Order: sequence, then C-alpha cells, then structure tokens
Amino acid sequence: MAQDGKLRFGLVGAGGIAQSYAQAFDQCSGARLVAVADVRPEAAKAMGEAFNCPSFDSHEAMAKAGKLDGVIVCTPPISHPEICVSFLEKKVPVLCEKPLSIDSASARRMIETAKKAGVKFTMASKFRYAEDVVRAKGIVMSGILGDIVLFENAFTSRVDMSNRWNSKSEVSGGGVLIDNGTHSVDIMRYFLGPVSEVHVVEGKRNQGLEVEETVRIFVRATSGVLGNIDLSWSINKELDSYINVYGTQGTVSVGWRESKYRQSSSRDWVVFGKGYNKVQAFASQINNFAGAIRGEEALLITAEDALASVEVIEAAYADLRRSHWVPVGEKPGDPALARTPA
Ligand SMILES: NC(=O)c1ccc[n+]([C@@H]2O[C@H](COP(=O)([O-])OP(=O)(O)OC[C@H]3O[C@@H](n4cnc5c(N)ncnc54)[C@H](O)[C@@H]3O)[C@@H](O)[C@H]2O)c1
Repeated sequence: MAQDGKLRFGLVGAGGIAQSYAQAFDQCSGARLVAVADVRPEAAKAMGEAFNCPSFDSHEAMAKAGKLDGVIVCTPPISHPEICVSFLEKKVPVLCEKPLSIDSASARRMIETAKKAGVKFTMASKFRYAEDVVRAKGIVMSGILGDIVLFENAFTSRVDMSNRWNSKSEVSGGGVLIDNGTHSVDIMRYFLGPVSEVHVVEGKRNQGLEVEETVRIFVRATSGVLGNIDLSWSINKELDSYINVYGTQGTVSVGWRESKYRQSSSRDWVVFGKGYNKVQAFASQINNFAGAIRGEEALLITAEDALASVEVIEAAYADLRRSHWVPVGEKPGDPALARTPA
C-alpha cells in the first residue's frame, strides 16, 4: 500500500488501452499507478515518464522489482493466460482486459489458479461501470418497462484493422466477434442474466481480412429474452444509442451523449445521464477492483462472469463455422420440391 493509503497497481502493456487506465488513475480514490511493463521498452519508458513511475521491459522484471497490490493486464489476448497466471501464482490480484482469453480451457486454468492462490481475479468490461448503463439496469430491474422482450446493442465503426493484431486470429482469437462482441455479451448478461443460446451471421468483408469484419449476433437469455447485436469494423451505423432494452410497457435507450426511457403510458421520454464518460468508467472499474482487494466490496464482474463471456464467444464461433443458410428455392426435406441435379 502507498503512503496515502492507496493500493499500488502495475500495468502490463503500455499500448492504447493502457493510456485510458493511466489517465483514470488520476480520478481513483482506491489505487495509484506505480509501475508499467511492456515488451517494447520505449513504450514502457514513455508511459513511466508521463505518469511518473518506473518502467520495465517485461512483466517478470516488474514482478521482481517489488510486491504490487494488484496488476492490470493490457496486452493482446493470446498473452493473457501466461501473464495472469504468473502474477496469480505470486498471489498478486489481477484485472485482465477483455477478452479474458481466446478459449474456455485457458480461462478455466486462470480461474483455477486464482482460486488456489486465494486472490481476486476479474475481467475488464468498462461498460458495466458506465453510470448511464448502471442507471439503465436499475430502470429495467425496477419493472417499470414491464416484461423485457428484446435487447439490442451495436458497436460499429469504420476502422482499418489490416495492420493490427486485432485481425490476426492467432493473437486475438478471431475478428470483430471476439474483439467487440465480448463487451456486448457481458453487457447483455449484466442486464438479463445467463445466456443460453447464440447464433451468428457474417456480413461482407471489405478490408480483405482473414477474420470476420461484420457480424449480426442473435442471443437468447435463459429468461427467454432475445438479444440482437450488430458489430462491425467496416461500417458505422451512426446510432445515438448503443443499448436499447424493450419491454411490454416501455423502452430504455443508453446513448453516447445522453440516455432516456419512455413508459408506454407516457408520451414523453425521460432523459437521464450525460452519456458515456470513458475516464469515469475506467476509474470506477479500478476502484471496484481495489475495493474488492481490500475486502470492502464485491467484484462487479466475477471470475465466473468472465468465463461465461468466453464461453458465449466460443459458442458463437462454433455457430459461425457452421452454415445455417438455406439457399432460396431449395426445400430441404421435401423430395417433391427438391431441385433435380443438372
Ligand atoms: N476495454 C476496452 O474498451 C478495450 C479497448 C481496446 C483494447 N482492449 C483490450 O486491451 C488489450 C490491449 O489492447 P490495446 O488496444 O491496448 O493493444 P495495443 O497493441 O495498443 O497495446 C498492447 C501492448 O502490449 C504490449 N505487449 C504485448 N505482449 C506483451 C507481453 N507479453 N508483456 C508485456 N507487454 C506486452 C505491446 O508491446 C503493446 O504495447 C486487449 O486485450 C484488448 O482487447 C480493451
């Protein structure tokens, strides 16, 4: 623990998302950034200088330099199991960026290691900490929207992925489905509980990638609620909202700039929240992790939640590999109408 009573956290990975964490530490009551490691020493050094903490060229070197109260893993997915297990075995709690891992076998191994070591282990999923999302869940849970029937989510934006690890399946585990879909699945589970079935269809590829760039996912929650999720690196749907939950008596819409709900008994929308605030979401996520390490609060995302996300994405890829499309004009199972071979 630091002299100011804050927990001492290290970051592994000094790339894009690590910058968001580093900025969020400024607003954190529970923890401070005291070390950063990256296999690109120049990236670690630049971040260490910017945020006034020592830098290391490997997570092993960072671990050797002194015991940390927690670690946040911000490296590409394929490296998550090795890095997380190495810290968990040293009894250092870990907050691992999404996706926890690219397959459920390694996710289970990570969770087992954390259990054996008796330390906290969780997956980052920033939207659960966004104030508007939390308030929208409260509205859904209050019952004022009636019986929930449909959940919709979209994360779409044009981004050239041709030179990024995100489109190399050996590093990322797949394409937009695992990259953005992990957020979607976790949000849907947050609102609606466990997911029982998933079906995915893929859209056109425009970037010539070896992985899917655009997908539409259909998810059924155990409760029977249907989810419809659109993900793309190739188009931008230009939507004001990213989550819509429809009930028999109303709708709640979580937006990038503001959020709102309307009960069918009323003509007016009730506006709430100020939209998505990245620094607030990341700071809340770090504070929840720190609070859980101190034993003051429960983790918002349990290791089991993290595993469930990995399992839904794994099932989604199994479905994507099978073709469920029926050619128009073909009537399977109806010999009288079946086309005769040429
Ligand atoms: N929560 C979010 O909104 C969000 C957004 C983007 C990325 N992510 C996730 O964060 C993780 C990192 O993504 P990114 O966009 O920051 O990637 P990035 O490529 O920008 O940064 C990754 C960094 O990790 C370093 N690295 C790679 N292997 C390493 C290792 N073994 N030890 C130490 N450093 C290593 C790289 O050199 C690089 O600097 C991924 O899991 C990604 O899915 C989450």
